[in-house]
Amino acid sequence: MSIAMDGAYPATSSAPLAHEPDSVPRPAPELSVIVPTFNERANVPILVDRLARVLSGCAWEVLFVDDNSPDGTAAVAREIGEADDRVRCLCRIGRRGLAGACLEGMLASQARYLAVMDADLQHDETVLADMLARLRSEPIDLVVASRYLSGGSAAGLSRQRARLSRWSNVLVQRVLGIKLTDPMSGYFMIRRSAFEPLAPSISSQGFKILLDILATKSGRLRVVELPSAFRERRHGESKLDSKIAFDFAALLTAKLTNDAVSARFLLFCLVGLSGIGVHLSVLRIVLAAAFSFGTGQTVATIVAIGWNFVLNNLFTYRDQRLTGRHFLTGLMRFQVICGIGAVSNVGIATWIYDYDSVWWIAGLGGALIGTVWNFVVSAAFVWRQR
Ligand code: GDD
Ligand code: MN
Repeated sequence: MSIAMDGAYPATSSAPLAHEPDSVPRPAPELSVIVPTFNERANVPILVDRLARVLSGCAWEVLFVDDNSPDGTAAVAREIGEADDRVRCLCRIGRRGLAGACLEGMLASQARYLAVMDADLQHDETVLADMLARLRSEPIDLVVASRYLSGGSAAGLSRQRARLSRWSNVLVQRVLGIKLTDPMSGYFMIRRSAFEPLAPSISSQGFKILLDILATKSGRLRVVELPSAFRERRHGESKLDSKIAFDFAALLTAKLTNDAVSARFLLFCLVGLSGIGVHLSVLRIVLAAAFSFGTGQTVATIVAIGWNFVLNNLFTYRDQRLTGRHFLTGLMRFQVICGIGAVSNVGIATWIYDYDSVWWIAGLGGALIGTVWNFVVSAAFVWRQR
């Protein structure tokens, strides 16, 4: 078939489409259920069935946002989607993170209402119908499923997690002034028109997207809570258990300092502090083995930088974790960058000291500039997004 040179298509052509195209516009569904997934292949088909049952009264879709799970979750979701276009899958490659996945899923929707829920069946899907009914009929923007309202429950949390959850709730309520019973719920429904304007200020790091939404627009969103039971997980395992406290501290700092101190920078500094301990311990061991101070200091510096690298790779950049060959090249770069950081730290401290000889101001100034250098440069050259 040839295309006419003036840009118009021939009036009658042997159309390559076997069937008449479906020219009837199909409106977006009323509700998108955004479900972040990482290694949830067993849960996906069960969740789809349950959603179909509870949402039969509205036009809905479910969007699985999968971070390229090694267990093939995305393939399972797509296979269901081939036969049922209410089921979609957005696969992110080379990235990890719960909040980022939710954010991207929400931004990929055209529905009037957006729900976020876990894939692991811990959230009670029957609450979706009530959430939708409230948003449809009342002038509210956000409905949160609360584990701590009477009628709800947090039975699915381990004892340690339950304690942390209660504790962090109090902190959030006091410090950020958020007056909800469960601001860290992972289960809520929001009006898209209320979400979109605040999307640019929401962080894609960490796991608390709801808290971020609330803190960003505190007081101005019209919010209600509904009680909901948090069930126990049956298939697969939780990804948040071990590092959740770390992430929480970082998020609180970011919100308290109006995002001036990012979660990453805070983690980076905490890791740096632990590195000082490692440095001193190694120095002591090497000196005890009767090596010279110069040797001890050199060995201690190299070991401490290596320690910092490993911890930053585990925690600070857990969403961009380097593995295999990338781990080794990353380590080498980090050594070089921090080496330069150390030299500039000494240079700047000496310069400040010459100027205003208060030893601790000079020392602190040098350390601060060195840390900022290490952070900014390693963000660009070690953990830059591939
Ligand atoms: N795409 C993506 N990327 N999904 C993720 C990631 C990730 O890095 N990490 C976890 N998920 C998905 C899981 O597959 C699951 O569907 C959901 O996010 C929740 O993860 P879990 O690992 O099951 O979290 P949890 O049960 O420990 O934590 C829940 O309770 C917290 C409150 O205590 C979640 O609902 C949290 O959002 C909630 O804050
Ligand atoms: Mn879970």
